[in-house]
Amino acid sequence: MTILLTSSSRHGTTDSIAGVIAQRLREAGLDVDEARPEEVTSVEGYDAFVLGSAIYMTRWTEQATDFTRRFREELSAHPVWAFSVGLSGVDKGEVSDPLRIGPVLLSLKAREHVTFSGRFDPAQLNLRERTIARMGGASEGDFRDWGAVCAFADSIASTLRGRA
Ligand SMILES: Cc1cc2nc3c(=O)[nH]c(=O)nc-3n(C[C@H](O)[C@H](O)[C@H](O)COP(=O)(O)O)c2cc1C
Repeated sequence: MTILLTSSSRHGTTDSIAGVIAQRLREAGLDVDEARPEEVTSVEGYDAFVLGSAIYMTRWTEQATDFTRRFREELSAHPVWAFSVGLSGVDKGEVSDPLRIGPVLLSLKAREHVTFSGRFDPAQLNLRERTIARMGGASEGDFRDWGAVCAFADSIASTLRGRA
């Protein structure tokens, strides 16, 4: 059972979450290849997919969305899990209507899609990004919930190990 796990991240938060998911799946005895979606040229040989993207301006990144378009057929023939990383659920954060990332997810028919809280560290961002995030009402801080991330990975592992 070999899984392709893609992560599309601008400032490393989604990558950090993808890394924990990959580690957890490996601990459960699954083979995992990690890649940036734009670097993947073939998905042959993979039995399942875990696709992750940061949310910017209410959407998955262009690279993550493009991946789902390029491999639509292959993805529809295998189990797919998806996760988004953003701040919409944080505190009074109002940065997005998470349903607007819906179209890409609908086309995926993912077994499960979860949104994890991310991180807003103004020092990491340029002025434009900082301004947009603040105007969107983003709260500063690191809101990653590793328990939720591990639970997501464990549920993928138990489903896939049941199929092996
Ligand atoms: C310019 C900008 C726009 C953002 N737009 C959204 C958004 O629409 N919805 C949301 O939930 N989070 C939004 N965020 C928060 C990011 O998704 C969050 O900071 C995430 O942790 C970034 O992940 P990354 O480090 O993997 O790029 C935005 C952040 C920035 C800087």
